[in-house]
Amino acid sequence: MSQETFVYDIPQPTLTDDLQLHLTLRDPEVDESIDALMAHGQYAALRRVIDDLAPADVVEQMKQSGLRGRGGAGFSTGEKWEVCYNTNADQKYIICNAGEGLHVAHAVLEGMLIAAYAVGATRGIIFYRSESAESVPRMRKAIEEARQHGFLGRDIMGRGIEFEVELRFGMGSFVCGEETALIRFLQGDRCEPQIKQPFPAVRGLFSKPTLINNIETFATVPLIFYYGVEWFQSIGTETSKGTKVLSLSGQVKKEGLIEVPFGTTLRHIIFTIGKGMKNGKFKAAVIGGATGGVLTEADLDKPLDYEMLDSIGAVLASGSLQVLNENSCIPTLVKNNILFAAEESCGKCTPCRIGTKRLSEVVTKITDGNGTLDDLQEMRNLAQVMQDTSLCALGRTAPNLLLTTIDTFWDEYVEHVNAKRCDAGQCKTMVTFAINRDTCIGCGLCARNCPAEAISRTDYIAPGHKLASMLIDTEKCVKCGTCKSNCKFGAIFVQ
Ligand SMILES: Cc1cc2nc3c(=O)[nH]c(=O)nc-3n(C[C@H](O)[C@H](O)[C@H](O)COP(=O)(O)O)c2cc1C
Repeated sequence: MSQETFVYDIPQPTLTDDLQLHLTLRDPEVDESIDALMAHGQYAALRRVIDDLAPADVVEQMKQSGLRGRGGAGFSTGEKWEVCYNTNADQKYIICNAGEGLHVAHAVLEGMLIAAYAVGATRGIIFYRSESAESVPRMRKAIEEARQHGFLGRDIMGRGIEFEVELRFGMGSFVCGEETALIRFLQGDRCEPQIKQPFPAVRGLFSKPTLINNIETFATVPLIFYYGVEWFQSIGTETSKGTKVLSLSGQVKKEGLIEVPFGTTLRHIIFTIGKGMKNGKFKAAVIGGATGGVLTEADLDKPLDYEMLDSIGAVLASGSLQVLNENSCIPTLVKNNILFAAEESCGKCTPCRIGTKRLSEVVTKITDGNGTLDDLQEMRNLAQVMQDTSLCALGRTAPNLLLTTIDTFWDEYVEHVNAKRCDAGQCKTMVTFAINRDTCIGCGLCARNCPAEAISRTDYIAPGHKLASMLIDTEKCVKCGTCKSNCKFGAIFVQ
């Protein structure tokens, strides 16, 4: 029996100066050994849950907390636990859908243990997309430490409770993260999604009730039982409680992982936490990566939560937030997204297998300068069919970027098909880069960065400038746009 001392009086986390709230995000350099963490309350929530609450009470408190899944469409975690709890079986499983992982390995284990106690599961699997995920060694160490401290095994904390956990790895496949495909993969079958009837919580791994939650969802659970349901309910918005980890990237001065309460505005994230635009003017932000959607200037002051994303047709999913400036071409963005989906589609259902291929062909035709207005209509129709009829969320969400941009950036699409113009300068067949010799100060940064050595100095010195301006040799230019993105004076433009 474990003789651990549990700590219950760690002050609640507070907002940082830039109004982030770090619940599941931790500095990778921080000491994550079990002793250091237990001195900060780790596993105290588990102990409290096991000693003070019946499994049904745990499920009830999870429902009351309002926690929603962080990995998919934001389904109520408590309701999912309830379905699994209510299903009788001689064996139940817990799966942590870990993707790339999180640093808080013990918090994830503690969350899984609380879930296992609540639904009556004795086996757990933590699934990483790949063995090379940065946080895997940390999780291996945490499992070993947890076992040594009596938090895993046949008689957890001397309370007669059993739970064991193992790590499993995918081979980088995106669709393997979809829960029904993941179950098939773990059974040794082909990694393809299935119709979710019944839900995995009723009939999942090896036909047994299986609770699948995202890693960030599990990492949040111990905090709810440590600080209480009311504390958790006080964070976020009416319908989206708690915080979300976001990977902020693109044209912001400060990129990196951040964690903010739901309800934080995009403006705050980009201009305060991200310290504003690195280059150029804000054009849009892609939220949710491959399954996500595009937010525009009009969305900057809306509180970010599941409802807001739903209203624009996007899914939070991975939590990536990529900020774009005027040098990003929307049809090219959509093309890259659709090409990714076509590559990752498992091919099982026709709308996704053929739809992603056909959409990539049409959008490539547009970015190659051969598109027509009819192509825009065809894309819209096809995207709608894919959303309505694909078997899993890969096919259903693959057209999200297209559908969230086709109206808001309609003029840009039309410019591509009618005028064969790409103002962002990314569609190579449509652009010729040129230098405004009066704005150019002759610093030569463009020439030094040009991979084709296509830029040289002219004899012309603009009034008020000391150096002669630069000139692009259009014969040599490979239209990569490096000069335009490097120029600090906006002197390079697309003709
Ligand atoms: C193509 C695809 C990839 C997915 N990848 C992940 C993933 O890497 N991690 C994850 O937690 N959920 C992923 N999901 C969502 C899962 O199917 C599932 O909804 C989620 O793990 C449930 O956990 P939650 O309720 O805690 O959000 C993916 C879904 C799809 C369609």
